[in-house]
Amino acid sequence: MEKQAELYSGKAKSVYNTDDEKYLILHFRNDTSAFDGKKREKLDRKGMVNNKFNAFIMEKLQAAGVPVHFERLLNDNESLVKRLDMLPLECVVRNIAAGSICRRYGIEEGKDLTPATFEFFLKDDALGDPMVNEYHIRSFHWASDEQVSKMKELTFKVNEVLKKLFLDGGMLLVDYKLEFGMSGDELILGDEFSPDGCRIWDAETREKFDKDRFRQGLGNVVESYERVGERLGISFASIG
Ligand code: TMP
Ligand code: ASP
Repeated sequence: MEKQAELYSGKAKSVYNTDDEKYLILHFRNDTSAFDGKKREKLDRKGMVNNKFNAFIMEKLQAAGVPVHFERLLNDNESLVKRLDMLPLECVVRNIAAGSICRRYGIEEGKDLTPATFEFFLKDDALGDPMVNEYHIRSFHWASDEQVSKMKELTFKVNEVLKKLFLDGGMLLVDYKLEFGMSGDELILGDEFSPDGCRIWDAETREKFDKDRFRQGLGNVVESYERVGERLGISFASIG
């Protein structure tokens, strides 16, 4: 597969065309951003760690029957993925209250959410990714009713698979964000799953291992991502 021109550059990843129009290359950079790009830093090794973390999780999800765009790792910082037409929505499931839901509803961080709750956000940095409901999605034609119901079904399925995976490693999956796209008529999980887009706490001490370490200036950001990976059995050895 030959890498061609850059198609798009986001806050933490760049996307390249390939010589096959059905596939793209995702390049995970060391750039780290929070608060819709207001806080930015380059963190050594982060691109490599997230690339391998994402590959491991995507393979687990695929094995559990979730359709994913991930095809294979190409090198330390790049993966081959299917080209999708992305829907402009972010799907968030929360098992424990943290982040924006605490600020929005005056809830204490750490409260168990039973059953887990689901939120849609509009992917739009300039607007600060506002939360939207299903009526907004319908009226503004951001997704069809069928796509909405499939996104919810798959996002909750991911929760069942990953809650157990993290718990087996002594960790709690607090919340996470997924993005979906279309390949023909099929709705497929796109983007990435890494500690940049979820919250993971130690099950005993509730120590934070995810991007909140960056958002809150707690330090040891990439080291914490690697610790999570090691507990899941991910190898970060160089593959070139
Ligand atoms: P929040 O508490 O800021 O709403 O975020 C909930 C989860 O979703 C958290 O794990 C971070 C992730 N997330 C992103 O990665 N990017 C986003 O743009 C949003 C809104 C959430
Ligand atoms: N990923 C978003 C950003 O880079 C939101 C966040 O993580 O705070 O700004």
